[in-house]
Amino acid sequence: ARIAIIGAPIEVGTSEPGALMGPAALRTAGLVRTLADLGHAVTDLGDVVPDCPRDARGLPAVAAWTRALSGRVEASLAAGDLPVVAGGDHSLSLGSVDGALRHCARTGRTLTVLWLDAHADFNTPETSPSGNMHGMPLAALCGEPGFDGLFADEADRPRLDPRQLHLFGLRSIDAGERALVTARQVAVTDMRAIDEFGVVAPLRRVLERVAAAGDHLHVSLDIDFLDPGIAPGVGTTVPGGATFREAHLIMEMLCDSGLVRSLDVVELNPFLDERGRSARVLVELVASLFGRRILDRPTPVIEAV
Ligand code: ARG
Ligand code: MN
Ligand code: MN
Ligand code: MN
Repeated sequence: ARIAIIGAPIEVGTSEPGALMGPAALRTAGLVRTLADLGHAVTDLGDVVPDCPRDARGLPAVAAWTRALSGRVEASLAAGDLPVVAGGDHSLSLGSVDGALRHCARTGRTLTVLWLDAHADFNTPETSPSGNMHGMPLAALCGEPGFDGLFADEADRPRLDPRQLHLFGLRSIDAGERALVTARQVAVTDMRAIDEFGVVAPLRRVLERVAAAGDHLHVSLDIDFLDPGIAPGVGTTVPGGATFREAHLIMEMLCDSGLVRSLDVVELNPFLDERGRSARVLVELVASLFGRRILDRPTPVIEAV
């Protein structure tokens, strides 16, 4: 499929300014060129412009972004493209996942979301300690109360089934959202599990389920999934993140699976970055997800001895 780059310079979901520079930094780091060099057909659709005043804040602004992005993502999936939404803070996934859900509803498929993130982003306005929307998109997508006016036609919009959601890399969660994640039976591979089992076994299980069910797999990559030592350009760093090698291995496994149908790359804050390092790491990871490999052949299967 052709890859469609969709810029989403949104930062109204955070209290830390700078994420609106994310799409520009990802392009500067070579996002489009790198994918084209790998042999993909790539089209850069430019940045989405939400239908709201530039200085709009709060839920109305997020709602405008959500609707604009949802439409863009759904249209690009309908055209047979693979949308890559370059953010922008994580509230943009309200739009990208909603668009993917609508596409799935139309095509009779089920959506699985793989959320690569230090955080659960499952707060509601009631449980959120910060009030920041980038900590709430999954609760809203799953239909938790408190988000009136966010989505178009709320009554009949397709919801994300929380059991179709997989949080991967979790290591920071607020008390209220933890209760909700547990109550809704969200699947979680937290950092404790990754330390014990590595990334391969847990990810393989997710991918096997997606393959067996024939689901549409949406991957949402929050840069704070990575360790701050390799990706400092983000407002919500949490120590103990994924290493460079773990992250690349995940991307390579996702590539080999052939299952990824849509992707978000979010939370890059170039204002907090060091000489473009974090933007570069993200572009390299996207390259691994789209087929860059060390040798031009599959990894050989090593039999157990
Ligand atoms: N849980 C915290 C909050 O609700 C942090 C959320 C961070 N989210 C993110 N997308 N970086 O404010
Ligand atoms: Mn399709
Ligand atoms: Mn996040
Ligand atoms: Mn996060």
